Amino acid sequence: MKTMPDIDQTIEQVARVLKDSKHAIAFTGAGISLESGVPTFRGNDEDNIWSRYDPEDIEISRFMSNPAKSWKTIKDCFYFFMQDRHIEPNVAHKSLAKMEEKGIVRAVITQNIDNLHQEAGSHRVIEFHGTTRTATCVRCHKTVEASQLDMSQKIPSCDKCGGLMKPDFVFFGEGIPSEAYSESMNEAEKADVCIVVGSSAVVMPAAMIPVKVKQNGGVLIEINPTPSALTHQYVDYYLPLGAVEAFTRIGKAIKI
Ligand code: APR
Repeated sequence: MKTMPDIDQTIEQVARVLKDSKHAIAFTGAGISLESGVPTFRGNDEDNIWSRYDPEDIEISRFMSNPAKSWKTIKDCFYFFMQDRHIEPNVAHKSLAKMEEKGIVRAVITQNIDNLHQEAGSHRVIEFHGTTRTATCVRCHKTVEASQLDMSQKIPSCDKCGGLMKPDFVFFGEGIPSEAYSESMNEAEKADVCIVVGSSAVVMPAAMIPVKVKQNGGVLIEINPTPSALTHQYVDYYLPLGAVEAFTRIGKAIKI
């Protein structure tokens, strides 16, 4: 039985790896935002999204055939609660922004659509699964800020042609935005370190990004209280911690 290395020792090693890195990137999932009040999709937090809503509601063919039901789930999961709970970036988001400022983290590739990395001050953020910030008409392709949508409508419609408005995040059954995909793969090619934060790493092709870094000889650091699909096979330094505690301790160790 492999003994778990001492967490303090791992924190020191992670700090050294990050300080010595040439091109470190971050790959983040819903877990980094949990301590900001955003529920995860899976895993053991009691209000995770897929235990309360049907993921089929954000499957693209379902959305097109039954937009009213999909929009109800979308509003509840991604808009109303964000407005009600005044979601803010936490220490983990802010630490990654500071690491970018210090030239340690070169890019954040996120599966999240909550915009918290940008609000924390990160500039190079690649939104692999799109964003909730904007929505686009499926008929005339007009794009608007989500804040301009009339959410009192059962099915928010285009103010130009009356068509169906679709949030600009990636639905199940949709492809990854080509620019986000190519930029992410490019970053994974260049990276010598990838810090994976708060992802179950079960959704493809997103979860291939840290694997690509590893296959290119890079080092994987993972922060997740629960082992993910990457932990045992790919991860070099595993911190079984929540993102806020981990980044608080890493931040002290690298003096940011
Ligand atoms: N700090 C860090 N990680 C945490 C914390 C925390 N405080 N609490 C929970 N986690 C971890 C969980 O252990 C889990 O491994 O966060 C992870 C969240 O996993 P998911 O909910 O599956 O989120 P994610 O990996 O981002 O999902 C990928 O699935 O439904 C789609 O498009 C959606 O982008 C999403 C994709």
